[in-house]
Amino acid sequence: MVWQSWRSAWHDALYGPDGFYRQVSGPAGHFATSAQGIPGGGRLLARALVILAERSGCTRLVDVGAGRGELLAEVAAIAPGLRLTGVDVVERPAELPEVADWLRSPGGTGLPDDLRGIEHALVIAHEWLDVVPCTIAEYDGAVWRTVEVDPDGDERLADPVAGSDLQWLQQNWRTNATEGDRAEIGTTRDAAFRELRARIDSGVLVAVDYGHLRDDRPEWGTLTGYRDGVQCPPRPDGSTDITAHVAMDTLGADELVCQHTLFDRLGLRPEAPAIALASEDPPAYLRALAERGSYAQLTATGGLGDFWWAITRIDH
Ligand SMILES: C[S@@+](CC[C@H](N)C(=O)[O-])C[C@H]1O[C@@H](n2cnc3c(N)ncnc32)[C@H](O)[C@@H]1O
Repeated sequence: MVWQSWRSAWHDALYGPDGFYRQVSGPAGHFATSAQGIPGGGRLLARALVILAERSGCTRLVDVGAGRGELLAEVAAIAPGLRLTGVDVVERPAELPEVADWLRSPGGTGLPDDLRGIEHALVIAHEWLDVVPCTIAEYDGAVWRTVEVDPDGDERLADPVAGSDLQWLQQNWRTNATEGDRAEIGTTRDAAFRELRARIDSGVLVAVDYGHLRDDRPEWGTLTGYRDGVQCPPRPDGSTDITAHVAMDTLGADELVCQHTLFDRLGLRPEAPAIALASEDPPAYLRALAERGSYAQLTATGGLGDFWWAITRIDH
């Protein structure tokens, strides 16, 4: 029986030689996001990013955690003038638009050596930080202990949390924990965000993820798995995605805004089509209805609309 901390087992399971994210099918083979798998969703997300890029004078868009390039394809279709770069743990996907560059990354907190000195770019990390492995801790009634896991997903409590992880807990978690409470410690996500920010000389860094703020930390933990489109117990054997919500307020971004608020602010809400259009131009009417459907899905309260956008402007 091989026991490891969740943080290290999680890294191997997703980014090791046979890791989950190295599968040919990519993330889209297992779950949908705003970027892919929701009809019209990727186009709407791309429009939001292109508006932000234009408003900030960015001439380049870099997608960190680009999956198989689905979002880049949507951006290429509506903003052919933007220079595009995708970054993920696999070789350049065959379906990637020709105009896009591609960099292979180690995965997790690691970024490619070549990804430095980024200028005039909007850098988007869409659902990256939730798959950056972190320490899982459980309160035993007296102290927080690191949770270890075996390849079947069975768990045991190990040493007390110490060092920077403990400091993070003390600064950022509830002080009234009770036995059995779980915490997903944000040190690795904060460090990954800081490292990506340090690689940007000018532009905007946008990290989009599901997460929580200081006043609504989850009590029981959010660690979970996804396999073949279905939520499942997380198993660190490469067969499931492993993800946990992100403490968005500790990243150090300039601004945090929910997806539903931001999309409204960017003027993306489609008007209801006039009923007369249904007889005058039925395909246009159906397109307009579909656009409203995509908007409703990406801005739904209790769903994708609650995703946090952590936005940071950089101009050294
Ligand atoms: C949850 S998926 C999201 C994919 C896509 N952004 C989307 O929203 O559909 C996370 C992606 O991040 C990638 N990833 C994880 N760590 C990375 C890193 N350090 N550099 C680049 N990509 C990374 C994974 O391989 C995976 O494709």
